[in-house]
Amino acid sequence: MLTTSPGPIGIFDSGFGGLTILRDIRRQLPQYDYLFLGDNARAPYGTRSFDVVYRFTLQAVNYLFEQGCHLVILACNTASAKALRTIQQCDLPSIDPSRRVLGVIRPTVEILSERTRNGHIGLVATPGTVASKSYDMEIAKMHPDMSIASLACPMWVPLVENQESASPGALYFVERDLRRLMERDPDIDTLILGCTHYPLLIGPIRTALPEGVQVLAQGKIVADSLADYLQRHSDMAARCTTGGTVRYLTTEDPERFAPLASMFMDTPISASHIDL
Ligand code: DGL
Repeated sequence: MLTTSPGPIGIFDSGFGGLTILRDIRRQLPQYDYLFLGDNARAPYGTRSFDVVYRFTLQAVNYLFEQGCHLVILACNTASAKALRTIQQCDLPSIDPSRRVLGVIRPTVEILSERTRNGHIGLVATPGTVASKSYDMEIAKMHPDMSIASLACPMWVPLVENQESASPGALYFVERDLRRLMERDPDIDTLILGCTHYPLLIGPIRTALPEGVQVLAQGKIVADSLADYLQRHSDMAARCTTGGTVRYLTTEDPERFAPLASMFMDTPISASHIDL
């Protein structure tokens, strides 16, 4: 039985990437309590099938609901692409129709017209997100005049998860992949980092990108969209507690999670282990 008392806002990712979203959300909405869950033991999700990503994500969402969250953000493009719609349409009505699960793809696509000058959009993301065509479909719906060229970058998440973001190996893969993407459409003027891990590769990305191409990282975009959502839905805002705290949960060993998470969040972090 789920509690009706207010609770923290749940933030979910397959691993560390969602911390890049949490950091910006906290900067913008420091008053709320947050419960972060990283399924590090089963990351990466990006190369997994639709069914597996859906099943893992639903387990995580249910877990966060059981911990008292009424609102859960899937701070993961792969989960947003492969699980969000099914959870919203098929699972939420029977779990609790008043709870909400929001993703990161729609807010990112919504702001594109404010950013691009020529309508040529590039997307780098996990193989799962690219294959789902979620960005292509949202862009076709919201901005039919824009074009999108996408490239799956299966090496990028393992580089981040293995703390190799600043290594020569990372630069090699980022340069190679961005060259391939720019060959698909040399006129790209706006690049979506369609994976929440990728902002941690911003150094190599900027080195490799042609001048004049702007990079869209999702943290600030999702934070703005959440702030707007809570303002428009005061009933949901009232169900989110406001103690300014964050708790971190991981399906991996917390001793392994904490050092890297502390680096991402710029502050010492301790985490607890959970099983899903
Ligand atoms: N950070 C996630 C994303 O935005 C998933 C990365 C992964 O687990 O493959 O897609």
